[in-house]
Amino acid sequence: MTVLVTGATGHTGRHVVAGLAAAGVKTRVLVRDRAKAPEGVDVVQGDITDLAAAADGIDAVYLLWPFFTAAGIDLEPLRGKKIVYLSAMAAEDGGVWGDVEAAVRRVTDDWTVLRVTGLATNTLGWAEQARTGVVRGPYGQAKRSLVHERDVADMAVKALTEDHARQTYLVTGPEALTQAEQARLIGQALGKPVRWEEQPLDEAKTQLAHHMGEEFAVNALRHWASLVEEPEPVSLDVARVAGHPARPFEDWAREHFS
Ligand SMILES: NC(=O)c1ccc[n+]([C@@H]2O[C@H](COP(=O)([O-])OP(=O)(O)OC[C@H]3O[C@@H](n4cnc5c(N)ncnc54)[C@H](OP(=O)(O)O)[C@@H]3O)[C@@H](O)[C@H]2O)c1
Repeated sequence: MTVLVTGATGHTGRHVVAGLAAAGVKTRVLVRDRAKAPEGVDVVQGDITDLAAAADGIDAVYLLWPFFTAAGIDLEPLRGKKIVYLSAMAAEDGGVWGDVEAAVRRVTDDWTVLRVTGLATNTLGWAEQARTGVVRGPYGQAKRSLVHERDVADMAVKALTEDHARQTYLVTGPEALTQAEQARLIGQALGKPVRWEEQPLDEAKTQLAHHMGEEFAVNALRHWASLVEEPEPVSLDVARVAGHPARPFEDWAREHFS
């Protein structure tokens, strides 16, 4: 069996590559820059919008879709293959993740969807501010069950190497923490106090829209507002499928900030 890993230079993909190597699975990666490809794997250079060459002769794929819209997606080269797609819980409401899930189901019956609440790596965007002792953002009291990228990868390797066809898993951290608490734990890892400062909503919206587009920014802010009253869920799917409890955010922060 040969598995194609997309996003192999990214946070989850690099651990998927390592996990497949540990399991002795022949692996191919699709990378834009050959120089950044991991060692010991078959390398195809290209863009994810054209999967034809990378998909030729593979049996399964770890798929992520690194854009804020599904416009232009072409999964035809993956027809009939096993697809493990890194999605989001927000796919329930459609959006890019819902659209890509639908595109996946149109080309294969052998799909597994990994819906994450949020990746802990999102908080790497706070790194510069955290070093100054203050993280500024909207909705500090929003409670999120952020996921360690290695838990996503462990789930993906199981789904790629076992039969998890037509399963949608909810991939979360082991607890929901407020964003202010996440900042505090990053401070603990850095060995200095870090506090949260509430950012005015109009300023946050302008900043987010600049990076992600207006519609995405509005949806993200609406979602975070809802998480103040109703925290993101905590799922046992990591424990069930990967065979170990989900890794705590505190451990993630220590690994990435100390
Ligand atoms: N952030 C969240 O909370 C969240 C929640 C739910 C789902 N997700 C999904 O998770 C994905 C990110 O996963 P991640 O954290 O593992 O990745 P990541 O660290 O954000 O890295 C993105 C990867 O995609 C590759 N890539 C970007 N554009 C590409 C293109 N045009 N063609 C081929 N490869 C391309 C990058 O390769 P280069 O080295 O060439 O840049 C890199 O390997 C997002 O796209 C999103 O759909 C995220």
